[in-house]
Amino acid sequence: MSVHLHSPALSQANQIDDVTILIFGGSGDLTARKLIPALYQLRRQRFLGERFLVTGVARREKSHDAFQAEMEEALREHASNGSFDGDTWAAFARNLTYLSTDVSSPTELKRLHDDVLNLEQERGLTGRRIVYLATAPQLFAPSVAALATADFIPPHDARDRLRVVFEKPYGRDLQSALELTASISTLLAEEQVYRIDHYLGKETVQNILLFRCGNAIFEPLFNRQHVDHVQITVAESQGMERGRGGYYDSSGALRDVLQNHMLQLLCLVAMEPPALFEAEYIRDEKLKVLHALAPAGKTVNEWAVAGQYATGVINGEKARGYIDEENIPPGSKRETFVALECRIDNWRWAGVPFYLRTGKRLAERVSEIIVQFKHPPLNLFSTIECDGSICQVVEARPNRLVFRIQPEESISLRFSAKRPGMQYQVQPVDMNFNYKESFDVAVPEAYERLLLDVMRGDSTLFTRSDELEAAWKFVDPLLAAWEDPTHSPHLYSAGSWGPTESDRLLQRAGRSWRNPVVNV
Ligand code: BG6
Repeated sequence: MSVHLHSPALSQANQIDDVTILIFGGSGDLTARKLIPALYQLRRQRFLGERFLVTGVARREKSHDAFQAEMEEALREHASNGSFDGDTWAAFARNLTYLSTDVSSPTELKRLHDDVLNLEQERGLTGRRIVYLATAPQLFAPSVAALATADFIPPHDARDRLRVVFEKPYGRDLQSALELTASISTLLAEEQVYRIDHYLGKETVQNILLFRCGNAIFEPLFNRQHVDHVQITVAESQGMERGRGGYYDSSGALRDVLQNHMLQLLCLVAMEPPALFEAEYIRDEKLKVLHALAPAGKTVNEWAVAGQYATGVINGEKARGYIDEENIPPGSKRETFVALECRIDNWRWAGVPFYLRTGKRLAERVSEIIVQFKHPPLNLFSTIECDGSICQVVEARPNRLVFRIQPEESISLRFSAKRPGMQYQVQPVDMNFNYKESFDVAVPEAYERLLLDVMRGDSTLFTRSDELEAAWKFVDPLLAAWEDPTHSPHLYSAGSWGPTESDRLLQRAGRSWRNPVVNV
């Protein structure tokens, strides 16, 4: 069955017009690969009207034409759904400009302000401005200070005229996140601030709450009575492509993915249903989960594992280890993999382990959440199965719900069935919902949804500062332990599922990771 909900009428009704978007960090990878393609898609689908200005801002000198040409090339490569269309691009590019500025310099931002005003006047724009901070994180606070000096920040009673988007990472530990919030909150009101976690913009992630709270049969099962454990895996097969080594080595898997994307996924699976489906209600419930989050062990080694990829074989070819990648300092002990076991010490989840793992250069690119239910209370259906002379007892396997976030977005439920035949033989089977098969609309890119929400003023899919601080508080002990000079990560072969120590986290309780094979 196909569902058609994306009618042009609906798009038009939500159209945003008269908006200026300034992207600080305009010559960076994110701008070319994600932000411009997302804005182009929004225009193509008429969510964005004809009156807008998008300006890339960065230090490097560049003409408008050169910027447009670079963005066109990137778009041809990255436009979602293979949807590059020359005429739409030409119209879009007329409102795509570039200004060279040091974004942390108040004097230069004053000049930028004049230039932006001129570009806006040429287009008759008088509406809202959005500043997207896609710069190095150390420039966030200075850029906001410079925006204030250069009169970009409107007076309090007109504050809705400016919204500022912060890319991740928001801080590098609890202390720096608190400092950042303290410094920007004197200049910007919280409702002007949009902290991006692009995982929240993914269609499959948005569906988690709907699945739990929009279907009466599942939500009553999400608790300690029925759930044995939860696994969250964000596995990546890529390494340090596109010169990412420098940034990555100052960050690592814990800061880069676990503290933000994975803890947000955990919140969505574990939170109480909000009283209303509105930003503050949802954020309040997520925050409660983060406050209840606790390590499943006294010492770091008892509950967490850091790994780093060594050489390995991927698709039959030798792959180099992290230490040999570009821009990685010799002897770096930075973790490219993290696995941990934690608990949520609240009424709903007491005693249920949550296992999280993420890493680079793993066997597959796949993100999944697995809710593993308990065994039936009585094993009525165990059967003895023989293969030649080897016989074993086969019992009904516990039910398992798998949210596949990417690729092949899907939700599947495993249950036991009787294998046809003259005996009671138990066999696990899957009930599958697959996005591609069920809906004939393309799954939008996370940044499309999130940029549109910023323009609409909907902060539901953005993180509040207290959520981020609670997340940093949880990971801070790991950061401290792994930055100790005596610490070394466990090595794993590129193309594997991580160090064996990560398997042991589960094996000690008789469990194991699900290592999915992806068919794309
Ligand atoms: C980013 C990280 O936030 O998320 C990257 O900085 C990571 O290192 C990426 O590769 C993963 O996002 P996605 O959408 O490709 O799963």
